[in-house]
Amino acid sequence: MSIALIVLAAGKGTRMESDLPKVLHRIAHAPMLWHAMRAGQALEPERTIVVAGHEAAQVQASVLGYDPEARVAVQTEQLGTAHAVAQAMPQLEDFDGDAIVLYGDTPFISQDTLEAMSVARARHDIVVLGFEAADPGRYGRLVTEGESLLRIVEYKDATEEERAITLCNSGVLCADASLLADLVKLVKNDNAAGEYYLPDVVALARANGLSAGVVPCDEAETLGVNSRAELAGAEAAFQARARSELLENGVALAAPETVFLAWDTVIGRDTEVEPNVIFGPGVTVESGARLRAFSHLEGCHVSRGAVVGPFARLRPGAELAEEVHVGNFVEVKNAYLAEGVKANHLTYIGDADIGERTNIGAGTITCNYDGVFKHRTTIGRGAFIGSDTMLVAPVSIGDGAMTGTGSVITEDVPPGALALGRAKQVTKQGFATRLFEMLRAKKAKQSKG
Ligand code: UD1
Ligand code: CA
Repeated sequence: MSIALIVLAAGKGTRMESDLPKVLHRIAHAPMLWHAMRAGQALEPERTIVVAGHEAAQVQASVLGYDPEARVAVQTEQLGTAHAVAQAMPQLEDFDGDAIVLYGDTPFISQDTLEAMSVARARHDIVVLGFEAADPGRYGRLVTEGESLLRIVEYKDATEEERAITLCNSGVLCADASLLADLVKLVKNDNAAGEYYLPDVVALARANGLSAGVVPCDEAETLGVNSRAELAGAEAAFQARARSELLENGVALAAPETVFLAWDTVIGRDTEVEPNVIFGPGVTVESGARLRAFSHLEGCHVSRGAVVGPFARLRPGAELAEEVHVGNFVEVKNAYLAEGVKANHLTYIGDADIGERTNIGAGTITCNYDGVFKHRTTIGRGAFIGSDTMLVAPVSIGDGAMTGTGSVITEDVPPGALALGRAKQVTKQGFATRLFEMLRAKKAKQSKG
């Protein structure tokens, strides 16, 4: 069965008090819209259509950033969820299969739940995702009779008896795409809100002799975001779930609540993550690595057996091969550190390639930026970079070469050579003693006078 995803994302999100459209607010470093789109990916949709309205150009750019093949339909006036779905339909005219409607501001629907809905379509023409609400509040209510769903009634239009129902509408639904296209055309706006309600398709389908059913899910999955407070709650919910998934997958987190993950963080089993490690987007860590306390990682790859931190910073493009050690106050950006490289203290490595088993001494800096351009530093295998070496890029250091402590290296160093780029030491016998005497005498004279 082919699947098309329709993601509704036209709303303004007034209660966010923000210039940014609601669906672009981030959870774990990704717009909440991406979370919804990612959930839908489990169904391997043939087509994805996002309905944008408020700040549509910004929403479109974000959609394409996640999936360049996704399409965007623009709903210029937000006349209701059925009207929104109708805007997507012209892009499905030639599509044969099921359409699943998701909301861009409901980021946590699980892949299993969507699969269950897809399976339930074998039994019903329309499948609606429902949940038992602890506090049903203003959600739409699902009016059922045994297994089957009769209709959905919006809170504003519901009778007291209907408001007592606790089975609520998540908004997610699945139906044959051409059936859905026909049904949304029939929806009217003669209701309390004066809107075209998507949930009305259920009663319309039943009036035409079709069947509708409910697939239940956990209320946590249907968590919607309407305010900054709810966004913070969604972030906390994401983090809690991501941490427990890591633990279940064999990652050691000593203090899980202090570790912050990104939407796409991948960590292999038996990797140890100490307290207060922060992940930005785009991090992959292989099995059996060790991420020590207070390290900050983004856009990087850490291989098996590598040790990072405490207090290390890996920035985009940092790639650490197996058994690399990056210690305290070391920053790595856009650089490849081959197997066994050690940079244990106080170092900046940017725009560099470093060969196997090379040792980078404390305080080493790749001077990669001339104020306009960035330049690369290349260091061979088994080299020894003395403490406090300034490597003025572009520069290359050969295999097995050494640089003397405190050197400023501006020229390439051939393999096996020792490069010294520092002033020669001058030692003056007895000079310090005489200088101290002179200075102390001066101080004594001043305090008398
Ligand atoms: C909707 C459902 C309600 C359900 C609830 C679950 C309707 C009429 N009601 O109510 O039964 O319990 O969700 O959260 O559908 N949108 C558009 N264009 C529009 C209107 C909305 O794209 O013209 C988008 C919004 O950006 C949002 C989603 O559709 O992502 C839901 O719209 P919203 O107005 O929040 O619906 P609710 O009133 O919450
Ligand atoms: Ca809502």
